[in-house]
Amino acid sequence: MTLLAARDLRTSYGGTEVLRGVSLTVAAGEVVCVIGPSGGGKSTLLRLLSGQEAPTSGAVLLDGAPAEPVRLRREVGIVFQALHLFPHLTALGNVTLAPRVLGKGAPEALESRARALLERVGVGPELHGRHPSALSGGQQQRVAIARALALEPRAILYDEPTSALDPERTADVLALIRARADEGIAQLVVTHDLPFARALRARTAHLEAGEVAGDSAGLLDDPRDERTRRFLRARLP
Ligand SMILES: Nc1ncnc2c1ncn2[C@@H]1O[C@H](COP(=O)(O)OP(=O)(O)OP(=O)(O)O)[C@@H](O)[C@H]1O
Ligand SMILES: [Mg+2]
Repeated sequence: MTLLAARDLRTSYGGTEVLRGVSLTVAAGEVVCVIGPSGGGKSTLLRLLSGQEAPTSGAVLLDGAPAEPVRLRREVGIVFQALHLFPHLTALGNVTLAPRVLGKGAPEALESRARALLERVGVGPELHGRHPSALSGGQQQRVAIARALALEPRAILYDEPTSALDPERTADVLALIRARADEGIAQLVVTHDLPFARALRARTAHLEAGEVAGDSAGLLDDPRDERTRRFLRARLP
């Protein structure tokens, strides 16, 4: 059953339409991949789906019903392209911040939950007190995912989750995403990394110039739209 959906989303900045009627669905436990050229509107789509911005028209649906940005911000977690960890906070501090600000429990309870979340994504206790600058790219990525999990989102959106990582770490991100899928979380993964997109084995949508040019399980291997063929051809080794 569809958990999160975009329905005919349109958005303009200064008279330029950046999303031109985008529709997309993600079910509970499903992973959907979004590929497409730079400037095609991928990050913009994630901002709308996570309630950081409202669309010019169209709607974001949760469980089939239109959801306001304030509700989306609560229910949809996001892991940004540049991670955006707070540099002055430790790994633990990054994960406890949002639940603390929202008064989600007593400090001790929040801390033990945050430690459990960090363990869940493979960040050992020896790293919990470190600041982001003292963590590797892969470790920071895990902390960013733990932080997204802190508000118990039903959906998680990733913007280029492998862009800051060595190829070896990409397999770790894949495993983290698979584990969240097993937990029933709906996930949308934006990537320009085609080998990573293939490894996800997910339904893949191609977003180009603000439009969905294709959306299918076989999109990477059997592209139907000429725009998708052209996009993939330009990126094949
Ligand atoms: N706040 C904004 N104001 C004006 N234009 C914007 C704004 N945000 C995005 N844009 C424009 O919208 C278009 C889509 O941007 P977006 O960041 O969604 O692309 P993208 O597909 O994520 O690209 P990339 O792969 O480079 O991250 C771009 O032309 C961009 O310049
Ligand atoms: Mg982007």
